[in-house]
Amino acid sequence: MRTQVAIIGGGPSGLLLSQLLNKAGIATVVLERQTRVYVLSRIRAGVLEQGMVDLLNRAGCGARMARQGLPHDGCYLSTVQGQFRVDFHESVGQRVMVYGQTEVTQDLYAAQDAIGATIIHEAANVALHDVETEAPFVTYEKDGQTHRIDADWIAGCDGFHGVSRKTIPATVRREFEKVYPFGWLGILSETAPAADELIYANHPRGFALASMRNLRLSRYYLQVPLTDKVEDWSDEAFWAELKLRLPQEVAAKMETGPSIEKSIAPLRSFVTEPMRHGRLFLVGDAAHIVPPTGAKGLNLAASDVHYLFDGLSEFYGKGTTSGVDAYSARALKRIWGAMRFSWWMTSILHRFPDQTEFDQKIQESELLQLQTLDSARSTMARNYVGLPY
Ligand code: APR
Ligand code: PHB
Repeated sequence: MRTQVAIIGGGPSGLLLSQLLNKAGIATVVLERQTRVYVLSRIRAGVLEQGMVDLLNRAGCGARMARQGLPHDGCYLSTVQGQFRVDFHESVGQRVMVYGQTEVTQDLYAAQDAIGATIIHEAANVALHDVETEAPFVTYEKDGQTHRIDADWIAGCDGFHGVSRKTIPATVRREFEKVYPFGWLGILSETAPAADELIYANHPRGFALASMRNLRLSRYYLQVPLTDKVEDWSDEAFWAELKLRLPQEVAAKMETGPSIEKSIAPLRSFVTEPMRHGRLFLVGDAAHIVPPTGAKGLNLAASDVHYLFDGLSEFYGKGTTSGVDAYSARALKRIWGAMRFSWWMTSILHRFPDQTEFDQKIQESELLQLQTLDSARSTMARNYVGLPY
């Protein structure tokens, strides 16, 4: 088989890139290791920047989001001293859209189906070949046979554990990493959200987050030690701990119920450079991971897709390569901005095992500045709604 852009991975990055390219008349094949049902069962974050909302609209898959998404103007920050609000819209004139990644992925699959895109699921042992030449190709196994796809370009959208990044020789690749000494225990429950907007809580017992998917589906997180196991946490224990960490007035009237999903995720910041090697591009989680504080993972995937789509459209439209040549540098500039923000949000809101009294005072001072200084709030708001593309 031959195509113009072979896309490895059918998560949000791969599907959004494929959809934009197909709509622009550029042929793609998406190779996904898992089944569609499996991809749609993964629960991830759910706060979209305006830039991502715009891109989904441009891809022709923003209609359900416009109907069912919840625009939020701000969020709450909570400390033992009380709760205060950061109004993004008042600070920087933009808002965010609360709409789950599962919904985004579903809408992308529906849009791809509608235009007859080629998505090959359960593609095993995907391997990338000759990416340093102008005739790269991909091989994979399915139904007991080996298949080959020749392409002009390969987009590695296969997440943190994919094969694409590892295809770039170690001599070329630079990796930057920070691992945090705790994880997030998350639950999903069919209950009304605790508040009208998200609550990020700094508490001596550890960080907590009250989030939502819609008005009958809530998502909550607790900072937990990395040694904790999901089995250690009954629903009752989760709710009890959450109520201790959220503002009292919120905890008192919070609806609780059985969890329909419960998992623990470690926190990590990771960037690989460069994001292009020959005819291979890395996109989304294949190139970078952020801790979830600030919900930047999916949004960074969207900005990567934006820059790459720009470059590939130019290549097929005008035959010039300035856009694809600039891809890695443009994407990385924005990625490091989001890396800084996610690291900062993580560092001001969590309890670190080795936190000294000095560190504690600095954390309190950071939160006080957010509460009392317009300039501190507007820096946070600018980053939360998304740095410009
Ligand atoms: N061959 C084919 N597909 C693969 C391979 C492989 N070797 N390895 C992984 N994949 C698939 C995975 O099954 C998955 O569906 O690639 C997809 C990657 O999807 P994600 O991990 O969701 O990554 P991405 O599409 O970049 O999405 C952005 O940012 O922080 C996150 O929550 C956010 O998951 C979101 C991500
Ligand atoms: C989520 O709803 O899953 C979520 C929201 C905001 C975050 C992280 C996760 O910062």
